[in-house]
Amino acid sequence: MLNLVLSEACNETARIRVMAFKDVAGQKLPEYTPGAHLDFDLGEKGTRSYSLIDWPETDPETYTIAVQREDEGTGGSQAMHNLAVGTVVKVTEPRNDFELSSGAAPVLLLAGGIGVTPLISMATALMQQGRDFQFHYTARSKTLMGFKDQLSDNFEMRLYCDDENPIDLAALMSAQAQGSAMYLCGPKGMIDAARSAATVAGHRDENIHIELFATPEAHSDDTPFEVEIADTGEVFSIPVGKTIIEVLEEAGKDLMYDCQRGDCGICQTDVISGEPDHRDVVLSEADRASGKVMQICVSRAKTSRLVLDL
Ligand code: FES
Repeated sequence: MLNLVLSEACNETARIRVMAFKDVAGQKLPEYTPGAHLDFDLGEKGTRSYSLIDWPETDPETYTIAVQREDEGTGGSQAMHNLAVGTVVKVTEPRNDFELSSGAAPVLLLAGGIGVTPLISMATALMQQGRDFQFHYTARSKTLMGFKDQLSDNFEMRLYCDDENPIDLAALMSAQAQGSAMYLCGPKGMIDAARSAATVAGHRDENIHIELFATPEAHSDDTPFEVEIADTGEVFSIPVGKTIIEVLEEAGKDLMYDCQRGDCGICQTDVISGEPDHRDVVLSEADRASGKVMQICVSRAKTSRLVLDL
């Protein structure tokens, strides 16, 4: 873990706070690649992940993030907004589940709301490498759109607001060259719509890279179900409001996971029987339809029991 001190903070919009951190002992910070994030240890509020923002002029001795306050959330973003300059926090070294590929293919960056943050770092890298890219950014309204001036000053941007000039995803995707590498980051609704527009336009799934920017929400018709571990025959009850990972971890199981939003793919688990209720954005339509794998950080069950290869 790194010990970082909040060295500067300012409000970008009424809900977005930009925060800059330095090493508490003045040491050099570990390097990171575009799309990387930090996991902040917020004590009883748990862990929160925030993407690192790298502008062309960013000081390499600083980590910059942006936190959107979610008043309906569980308090993590509010805790981040309340941190005073000078506070020391514990943070993991940068990790990247949303890597920018190398290669000559044209790149499409598509951001929804605060999902713009990892794409800023990608745009900076693409510009410095002289690569061909387009950067499209959509938000519900102009007042909610963070960084619009700084983005327009640094990159050739296309900005869209739902209440003025909504984005036409079908037109956008059909205008992209086949083989383009696409990076989509934003809320689930935008990602689902963009991915299906890309598929309709003939783009292949392996060229579409996704990061979700929202904590998955419970559905009003969620029901409890059971998980059986195939190897041991142990059975666990998964109540409404808890994930498979949360229940199994409380029972002392050691599991691999990272994002807990259904977009990194690390917690993917083989399903031996039962029907998953997929809530992730990482599986392809074919994987989803097969019912043979699931992301146990967000997905639930359509049947009363799932037998998992854990
Ligand atoms: S932990 Fe990232 S998809 Fe489950």
